[in-house]
Order: sequence, then C-alpha cells, then structure tokens
Amino acid sequence: MMKPKQQYFRAIAIGLGALAALASAIAAGCVEAPSGLAPGPTGGGNVSDAGVEAGPVIINGRDLFDSMQADLMSACGLCHDVAGLADTPFLAGPDRYQSFVSWPGIVSTQPENSLLLTYAMSGKGHSGTNLDSASLKDTLLPKVKAWLAQEAQNFTQPPPAAGPYIDPFAPIMGFNAIYLGALGAEFEGMAVTFQAELLAETTLELTNIELHPTSKTGLKIVHPLWVVHPLGKDPNPDPVDSFSNVDTIYAAGESGELGPGTLVLVNWSRDAKLSLAFETIEKYEPASPDAGDGGPTGGCKDVASFDANARQPLQVCLNCHGGGNGQAVAAVDMTALSSDSAKACGQIKNRVNPNDPPASQLFITTNPDGNAAHPFKFGGQSGAFNTFRNSVSIWIAAEK
Ligand code: HEC
Ligand code: HEC
Repeated sequence: MMKPKQQYFRAIAIGLGALAALASAIAAGCVEAPSGLAPGPTGGGNVSDAGVEAGPVIINGRDLFDSMQADLMSACGLCHDVAGLADTPFLAGPDRYQSFVSWPGIVSTQPENSLLLTYAMSGKGHSGTNLDSASLKDTLLPKVKAWLAQEAQNFTQPPPAAGPYIDPFAPIMGFNAIYLGALGAEFEGMAVTFQAELLAETTLELTNIELHPTSKTGLKIVHPLWVVHPLGKDPNPDPVDSFSNVDTIYAAGESGELGPGTLVLVNWSRDAKLSLAFETIEKYEPASPDAGDGGPTGGCKDVASFDANARQPLQVCLNCHGGGNGQAVAAVDMTALSSDSAKACGQIKNRVNPNDPPASQLFITTNPDGNAAHPFKFGGQSGAFNTFRNSVSIWIAAEK
C-alpha cells in the first residue's frame, strides 16, 4: 500500500540528487563558490529561480551576529559560555555564531517563538539578565530581533514530497540530539543522535549516528535521507543517498546505529543547515501485548558493577530522568534506578560506549566543558563531573 509513495520518494531523491550534481558541477567552475555567502550577483542564485524577480537578498545571519556579539558576550557570556554558570553554553567559542544558531530553540522560522523572546524576558522564569531589562531593551534587544528576523528568512524547506521530515537545523559542531516528536506525538522522546565535525569547508562528517526509541515504544524506519540546506540556495540531499538501503526496526528500549552509523556530506557549505527526511517512519509495536512495558531486552552484562559503580553517582540525574521531567524520562528512562537495577541498567546502557567509556553520551551531554545542548552539566563543576565519570566508567568498561 506504500508503493506509490515510495516510488515518489525515490524519484524525488533521485531528482534532487541530479540537482545536487548539477549544483556541484556549477560550483566546480568557480573558485570558492561553494560557500555561497556573497549576497552579490551570484549569491542566492539557484536552479529554480526563473529569473523573473531577483529573490530576497540573502543576508548572512553571521554578519548580523558579528555586529552584536560583543554586546551579547558582555550581557550573557558570563553564564552562557562553556563552563558558564547556566549549564547552557549557547555562546561557546570558538565559533560563537555556530553555537548560538545551533542551540535548540534559539532560531526559528517564527522569530517570536525563539527562546530568546519566550524565555530570556522578564516574567518568563529566566534567572539571568533579561533582554528587556533597562540596560538592554533599547540596545541589545533590537539587534537580537533584527537578527532573529533575518535567520527566520534563511530557512528553506525540503521538497514537500520528501516524506515526513525534521525541519532544517544548524548542527552543533560536536554532539547533537535531534528529537523526533515534531513528527507526531507517538515519537515524543525518540531521537537521532550523532557527532558532527567539519572536515573541510565543504565536508561535514557525521559519526556515531544512532537511533533511540523510548523504553516504551519501538520504531521502524525506512530510507532516511539527509538533506543539506545551503544558505540562500535550494536544498541539496546527500549526493550518494547513503542510507537508501536502511529498513530497520528498533525495539522499545533498544537503541542502535542508523544505517552504517557514519556519513560524509561532501555537499556541505558554511552556515548551511541539515534536515532529515524519512521514506517511512512509524512506531513499532511487537505482536506480544506485554512487550510494551520495556523489559530489559538489551540487558546488561554486569549488573553487579552497575550497582557498585554507577547506581549511586547517577542519583544526581534523577531529578529529571527519575520522573520529574517527562522529556528527560522519554529520552533516557532512569525510573527503575532505585527499584530494579537490571532494568535501569538496560536503559542506561543505550547511552554508553564500552569501547571508549569517556566518549559515552552520558558524559558528552553532562560535561561542563562541553557544548552539548543538555540542561544539566554539574553546575559547571568539573570536579564533580570527573568524579561521576571516573566511577561510572568502571561499569561501562565492564559492559565490553
Ligand atoms: C547570571 C547568569 C546568567 C546571565 C547573565 C544570563 N543567563 Fe540565561 N540562563 C541562566 C541560567 C541559570 C539558565 C538556566 C535556567 C534558568 O535558571 O533560568 C539560563 C537559561 C537561559 C536560556 C534557556 C536555555 C535553554 O536551552 O533552556 C536562554 C535562552 C537564556 N538563558 C538567555 C540569556 C540571554 C539572552 C542572556 C543575556 C541577555 C542571558 N541568558 C544571561 C543564567 C544567566
Ligand atoms: C535538569 C534536568 C536534567 C538533569 C538533572 C539531567 N538531565 Fe539528561 N536530559 C534532560 C532532558 C530534558 C533531556 C531530553 C532533551 C530533550 O528532549 O530535548 C535529557 C536527555 C539526556 C540524554 C540524551 C541525549 C540528549 O542530550 O538529549 C542523556 C544521555 C542524558 N540526558 C544524560 C543525563 C545524565 C547522565 C544526567 C545526570 C548526570 C542527566 N542527564 C541529568 C534533563 C536533565
């Protein structure tokens, strides 16, 4: 019954692939063109422009950011730089623009929905300096609004027929967790996670690409397609459609690699965004009615070591992952930490790397010296974090 749609999807993917090839052929002809940032005569030029009207002039959000960076750093940097007091380092260097634009909720197609305007304002619960405070409301705030308006214009949509998709986002250069809840309530708490690294100006590498269902609900995925959204140009999908063979079921509570787990996007460009489309994405319900309770199917090899080395240090996570925060529980379910070690261990194991314990997601997300978008980083205290990492790593190594 999915046949026609599948074929359409493939046709689109191929069509876009051809477009990508064309775009890179054009780019190859002119030096330094791939960055595509110049708002001059060629900037924003794309294949679909019929040449009737010059499209909207693409202003690089980076330029507007540069002109407010000093103000932003002096008003917010103390708390929002790496190892800042806020545990939310959206102004992390060295590329502060990249950090800001890639922080979940900062830019939006609807500027008024930006966290900057919904949260960093008086009466919204922010414990730091607000953008509408007396000293900022006529200085930094107008700049922030102008920048947000520009960023809103710099979003492009994947083609409507590309299947359900995650809206374009700027990747964090580092660890990313892309939540799938936007695709439907049944996907709430599920995520694709990966590390992004710029290998060259036009080459972005994604590694450790993993799919995380929740402890209650599994997921079936067919043919994910990564699409690059170059600034001011048409979307440009992964030219080799690397994940076309993916047709995978992730049982409830069991994370796994997405496809081969790595992807090199040679069609990257500075300040581009990424989106992720799926030919099919649907929740997976096993035949057995009682299997939905998330039994510890993955299981741990060394629950005794988990008890001895991880259970106590993980208590600090329970405020949110123990039941206090629905999103946190859906992402990593630690509700059984006190009552059922084996079950809790089976869940937490989805976020560790026994071959390289310090590289485990548990640590990448909570390291105060890191730039991951996770709301808790030991209050900026490296000492407390190191104690946590050293102890929990003993268990992780035992899972090898
Ligand atoms: C004195 C420290 C401090 C300063 C200065 C500060 N903040 Fe914050 N901010 C925090 C803390 C702490 C949090 C975490 C939640 C909370 O307590 O509000 C936070 C959270 C936020 C968040 C939510 C991030 C998220 O992902 O949930 C935004 C947005 C934000 N701040 C914006 C700003 C902006 C913009 C400025 C500068 C105008 C600023 N903050 C200045 C302490 C600060
Ligand atoms: C202040 C609440 C809070 C605390 C405390 C907290 N987390 Fe989280 N965590 C969250 C939320 C919320 C999410 C889901 C993020 C989302 O839905 O965008 C999450 C997600 C995660 C993820 C999935 C990857 C990601 O970044 O989304 C990992 C791994 C994780 N947390 C580990 C931990 C560990 C380990 C601890 C304790 C050392 C901890 N968390 C403490 C709120 C918290």
